[in-house]
Amino acid sequence: MKKLLAVLLATVMTMSLLTACGGSKSAQTTEAADTTETAKATDATGSQALADGVLTVGTNAEFPPFEYVNDNGEPDGFDIALIKAIGKKLGVTVEVENMEFASLLSSTGSKIDVSIAGMTVTEERKESVDFSDSYYEAVQYVILPEGSEIATADDLKNKAIGVQLGTTGDFIASDIEGATVSQYNKAVDAVNDLINGRVECVIIDKNPALVFEEKFEGQITAIDGAQFAFEPEQYAIAMPKGDAALVEQVNAALAEIKADGTFDKLVKTYIEEE
Ligand code: ARG
Repeated sequence: MKKLLAVLLATVMTMSLLTACGGSKSAQTTEAADTTETAKATDATGSQALADGVLTVGTNAEFPPFEYVNDNGEPDGFDIALIKAIGKKLGVTVEVENMEFASLLSSTGSKIDVSIAGMTVTEERKESVDFSDSYYEAVQYVILPEGSEIATADDLKNKAIGVQLGTTGDFIASDIEGATVSQYNKAVDAVNDLINGRVECVIIDKNPALVFEEKFEGQITAIDGAQFAFEPEQYAIAMPKGDAALVEQVNAALAEIKADGTFDKLVKTYIEEE
């Protein structure tokens, strides 16, 4: 996005049909007579996000194994490796910005080009972003302290539940009858409060739940949400609404990455070895 202004200027200068005073509202009629275009910079395929050759990616690196901060202080994980592989296929530089999960949706298309954050496709989110094809199936898990008697959906009623703010776990918990929901910016803080006895369970996606179970071995257990009648969820990359060329290219890159074995390699490296 940084170079956007330069690219915009370059585009304006090369557009032969612009009037001398060249306002950005000048319209150009292309061969397809009904197509008018404003002077917004795009790449050859018509994507605005890809126009400057830099794909700015927002994530929330508090969600291992999909994203976490590595020993060098950099965002790392399955999603980061995946979006870098996609960027490589598209011939753009990928720059990752770590931010709060709850800020990702509104920043997509303004502060950042796209978001990759183990983000579940939901009808509500589809109103503000376009999603790529799904790349991973997940489900919410319930993390319990050792010895907890919670075992069914009914048992979750009237409980103190910890979640990460703005996540699907948060939405599920908030719908549970009588539940008191504590929302944390970092999932690990919810788990710490579970261990401290401040909440009675944590609702969070499967793979992070399994990572935390291993990290806090002997103190917590992660239970498959199917036991609580939670539905499967699909992760996808969130993109600005209306950049159809971007969606098309990202999906094509994703399909190639799946077909050429890169995707499976990333699953082995980041998810199965956790
Ligand atoms: N899948 C859940 C959702 O979309 C949680 C994602 C949390 N991701 C993160 N990087 N913190 O709401």
